[in-house]
Amino acid sequence: MRTTQNKTLPLVLLFAGSMLFAGRAAAQDVTIPVETQHNAIVLQTDAEKHLNMVYLGTKLANSAEYARISKMYRQADDSGVQNDVYTPSGSASLGEPAITVTHADGNKSLNLVYVNHTVSKVSDDVSLLVVTMKDPVYDFEVKLYYKTYYKEDVTEQWSVIKHNEKGVVTLNKYASANLNLKGNTPGGFWLKQYHGNWAMEVQPEEARLTHGIKTIDSKLGTRANLYEHSMFAISMDKPATEDEGKVLYGALEWSGNFRVDFELDVANNLKIIAGINNAASEYHLKPGVEFTTPAFLYTYSDHGKGDASRKLQSWARQYKIVDGNGSRLTLLNNWESTYFDFNESKLAGLLKDTKKLGVDLFLLDDGWFGNNHPRNGDNAGLGDWQENKQKLPNGISSLVKEAQANGVKFGIWIEPEMVNPASDLYKAHPDWVIKQPNRPEKYFRNQLVLDLANPKVQDFVFGVVDNLFTKNPDLAYIKWDCNAVIYNAYSAYLKKDQSHIYVDYVNGLYNVLKRVRAKYPKVPLMLCSGGGGRVDYGALQYFTEYWPSDNTDPLERVFIQWEYSFFYPAITSSNHVTDWGKQPIKYRVDVAMMGKLGFDIVIGKLSEDELAFCQSALKNYDGLKDAIWHGDQYRLASPWDNDVASIMYVNTDKSKAVMFNYLVNNRYGSGTKVPVRLKGLDPNKKYRVKEINIFPGRGSVLGNDDQTFTGDFLMNVGINPKTNASHTSVVLQLEAI
Ligand code: GLA
Repeated sequence: MRTTQNKTLPLVLLFAGSMLFAGRAAAQDVTIPVETQHNAIVLQTDAEKHLNMVYLGTKLANSAEYARISKMYRQADDSGVQNDVYTPSGSASLGEPAITVTHADGNKSLNLVYVNHTVSKVSDDVSLLVVTMKDPVYDFEVKLYYKTYYKEDVTEQWSVIKHNEKGVVTLNKYASANLNLKGNTPGGFWLKQYHGNWAMEVQPEEARLTHGIKTIDSKLGTRANLYEHSMFAISMDKPATEDEGKVLYGALEWSGNFRVDFELDVANNLKIIAGINNAASEYHLKPGVEFTTPAFLYTYSDHGKGDASRKLQSWARQYKIVDGNGSRLTLLNNWESTYFDFNESKLAGLLKDTKKLGVDLFLLDDGWFGNNHPRNGDNAGLGDWQENKQKLPNGISSLVKEAQANGVKFGIWIEPEMVNPASDLYKAHPDWVIKQPNRPEKYFRNQLVLDLANPKVQDFVFGVVDNLFTKNPDLAYIKWDCNAVIYNAYSAYLKKDQSHIYVDYVNGLYNVLKRVRAKYPKVPLMLCSGGGGRVDYGALQYFTEYWPSDNTDPLERVFIQWEYSFFYPAITSSNHVTDWGKQPIKYRVDVAMMGKLGFDIVIGKLSEDELAFCQSALKNYDGLKDAIWHGDQYRLASPWDNDVASIMYVNTDKSKAVMFNYLVNNRYGSGTKVPVRLKGLDPNKKYRVKEINIFPGRGSVLGNDDQTFTGDFLMNVGINPKTNASHTSVVLQLEAI
């Protein structure tokens, strides 16, 4: 990250720790390039000391030229073109605001002018730019934070808002970031966005943005991503492909209501404003108190969506998710094999099956708790986190021991933010429940949400996790679920500040998760929300993995996992082999292997061959998991456009790779007819290609020919994985020799 004031500032200051430029702005325009390995965003003051974002794109070879960029454009004037770095409302800027306030005196006008900025280095790779802006009339300040990850080309941007007015100021809108993309894109801007529903997560749509404002948002409170996601891609000029085109990826790190506005102005500039959704959420800010918005995450690539996604995946592994460079546990889950219907002897059998299958851990799902209101269905028991004495007379601790006796680990499902009206908790603490005092209760999956704005509720939720680990120190895994949205938003705790509920809920949740991580830094936690209702980096910074969807039909999962992978690395994607769909076990296992592999099937129902296949696939997975979890992912053929979807993962030194091929079209003659070109290999290395995960009794699709090729050949000519109606999924392993 570097800073220049009209070319005069010596570059020595570049990484000189914390620097302050207060008071020098009046004399000259200030130009602040924020550079990463390949990209730059450039901020610059104008004659009125407004700070504008004048550039976002490939970084220039000669950084002195950044100062000249704005002269190429018509300046902000009555043409309606504005580039404010954080658009205030009620003064000179008339576009969609990033921030709207009501001052202590009732006035609604905000003007923000540049005061100073500092740049500091957090590490060799990470820098932090902080820009301070103030209102010349009101004692009101906004600091913009840009945390840049140089090698990964990723930026996290957020704002901190503060004032010293004589009374409370209401924040009516308070975005995290406001980007401006210049209109020198003759083909316009193309938005790729995601919508979905239960079992239909991350459905993509891509379209050219028209003038005016397009908004994607959520008002669901919890399970905020159930219908829409804050993650998106903006392509410039034309939709970027996997390997070509200019594309910006963005997402809000926030597990609650979000709002992203895309405003295309009269000069074809695109303003992107991302933040917490301000709907029904005015925030009352006392003098001297700081309000910190969540980070908006973005990366840019001029080499297409594949490059952008590898940057995000690598960033997430290095900096965001828990133990991103570490290991994960394969597992057997009992949800689909038993649902709520189990007891100790059934579980003892499943623990034996866990060992027999060859996975690391048994995960006990929903249904283990509640006594006065036993959890025998989804209509009772949530909130009463004591073992059900009928099902588990000897408690969780005996199961943990039993697991150990079988040489496997034990994990458990919880949904600690929720309560069923049929529970002791609901009766003991009705004031802990989010519900309107004077309206009938409205349930989602027969349950209500606990009020995490209330510190006592935070203690309770933390206690659910802490008690489990305290009583069972060998407990090795938790699946944290969240199955309801917030209806009838009202917090008995917040009293007059009801409009804080959505924000304080999420911050309350993060307080709990911070406490969990402070005490249990590395224990694997799966983030689940009735499927992928809550997949975002705000939450994922506390989790090791997420549950993409309850839809485990592998045909559907090819598409779902494909789309999530643009934002999230494979190591975070929990993929379970279940009985959903009509595909053979081989196809189901092959699809689940492109992430963190797990099983949720009745092992006893597998034929001898099927079991042997699963066991040997797990061994293959063991040899390849380093490439899948920590390597680079390349999308070779999209399931949306081809009969066969092909994806590969290459480990860091390019000595090992795996290529997954899945038939996704069952029409006559569908299959791979031509070779698929591989990516990411070393052209000079020789690779031995071998089909793995071959079902007992079948031969390799590759036949008996010599299967040793140079990376050069494999990337320019390709290899035919011969995936078709008789071989619906094919996994090829590549090893450098
Ligand atoms: C949610 C989860 C499922 C399962 C059930 C249990 O739907 O997504 O995987 O855990 O809850 O009730």
